[in-house]
Amino acid sequence: MNKLTALDPLVAALRDLPEHDPASVAEVLAAAEISDLELDRVARFDRDHYARVRLHHDPRIEILVLGWEPGQATPIHDHAGQRGWVRVLRGVIEETAYRPVEPLRFTHADLRSAERRPAHLQIDCCAQVPAGPVVARVDPVRAIHRLRNPGTERAITLHAYAKPHAVCLAFDMEAAIAWRREAGVDAVRGA
Ligand SMILES: [Fe+2]
Repeated sequence: MNKLTALDPLVAALRDLPEHDPASVAEVLAAAEISDLELDRVARFDRDHYARVRLHHDPRIEILVLGWEPGQATPIHDHAGQRGWVRVLRGVIEETAYRPVEPLRFTHADLRSAERRPAHLQIDCCAQVPAGPVVARVDPVRAIHRLRNPGTERAITLHAYAKPHAVCLAFDMEAAIAWRREAGVDAVRGA
């Protein structure tokens, strides 16, 4: 596939895929070679938390650019039974995958907003993904993970979610609990 050197054609290529299956989305994301100039223009950073900029959202797919200060991390979370893809565009990201000790018998849809449920997790694997063409994925089977910038420099990542989901489960491994988490965005490109 031809290299995609700007965000608009990349978004269009992802949006227009007939199927958002794992291989097709990964192939498009792996072909992205976004210029430093455009990355610097679109990415946001926040001292207090990693920053999410939405590039595109429709009922089939959501595309985001995330900016990470050193040490910033997501909570441990799932993807509401949907698929997610991550491409590291700058810096390095550490991904830790988890699995429930026993199958979870609930989803975010079963929880009220402040409710906590017991959920025992164990670490499945951990990998450091440097900037490059490798695309990390979550899917309904390998569903729970946490991303963190372990480096001393800022990191920038590109994310696709199909289908989009505004709510998921978040976990505290030490406390062995799960709760319902609503993920917003910090900015919308072009808005
Ligand atoms: Fe995720």
